[in-house]
Amino acid sequence: MKVATAGLYGPVQEDLRLVEDTFDRIKNVENFPALAKMLAHVLGGGGKRTRPAIALLAGKFGDYNIDFHVPLAASIELLHTATLVHDDVIDASPSRRGRATANAIYNNAASVMLGDFMFAHASELISRTDNTAVVRLFSHTLMAIAGGELHQDLSAYEYSNDTMKYFARIEGKTASLFATSAEAGAMVARCSDAEREALKSYGLNVGMAFQVVDDILDFTGDEAEMGKPVGSDLLQGTLTLPSLLLMERYPKDNPIKKAFRTKKPKPEYVAEAVNMVRGSDIVKEVHSVARDFRDKAVAALQDLPAIEARSTLEDVADHVLDRRS
Ligand code: IPE
Ligand code: IPE
Ligand code: MG
Ligand code: MG
Repeated sequence: MKVATAGLYGPVQEDLRLVEDTFDRIKNVENFPALAKMLAHVLGGGGKRTRPAIALLAGKFGDYNIDFHVPLAASIELLHTATLVHDDVIDASPSRRGRATANAIYNNAASVMLGDFMFAHASELISRTDNTAVVRLFSHTLMAIAGGELHQDLSAYEYSNDTMKYFARIEGKTASLFATSAEAGAMVARCSDAEREALKSYGLNVGMAFQVVDDILDFTGDEAEMGKPVGSDLLQGTLTLPSLLLMERYPKDNPIKKAFRTKKPKPEYVAEAVNMVRGSDIVKEVHSVARDFRDKAVAALQDLPAIEARSTLEDVADHVLDRRS
């Protein structure tokens, strides 16, 4: 997997290296080489670093301070990576960021505990912001992510066309952390309430666009480029926007209905659904939904000062739409 974000993060590109340095320190757990090895595996696998970049960029609108902003950004990325370690257990996924997942190398039990360790470490890092409002926001965000994942799991294989529920789910599992990245960056920088709200709205909408695009890529993406499996959402019983639109177009006879008759969908029904989506204009339609979220994100930045960080945030929003990994 090639991570195509070189140069994208403009004025915070250098400081993202300090986030990597923080990870290097985290990896070196004393007196526990087995844990150190697991951490090195999941933290050393690349990743686009989108969320910590947003946190640092948001900080540029106020009193940017690496002593607080770097631990914040590292905490957010660590939290994100921990959710991925758990998500890969939930999805029984074999690869992530171009390498084998923790659950594939070790086992589910060890991966769950590794994720727990990382969550705890993320909490320790967030406390270094010395800002209880930020710590509270962090806790609420973790609840939103867990809630979103839980809703998804509880509704797996449930054949019901409910777009509102889809949007609520992705707001919880993905957009909430993007919103918090931007909002907490602003809070730590002591931005005004209006600036903080604007940045939060940017993050929320970019996060929605991000997950909608992820859900398209699960139908159209390239496994090698993505560094993770594609075509797995339907196999897991997860209905995303492309599937929901397919069901809407073919309410009577469609392969998803057939696939979801059992909790072990027949791969041929799933393949048929994937081909139907690919061969229709559904991909274009879903992409335009992502574009609307991108537009809202960029519009939210309108009244902020036109500093370099603002145009970088706009570039990040564009990249989210065009990404292939
Ligand atoms: C993956 O997030 C999980 C989703 C919300 C779709 P990323 O695509 O940001 O993963 P990395 O960090 O770049 O690997
Ligand atoms: C995002 O959903 C997972 C989390 C926010 C934890 P996905 O299940 O679509 O993420 P990928 O596709 O495995 O990266
Ligand atoms: Mg997954
Ligand atoms: Mg996905």
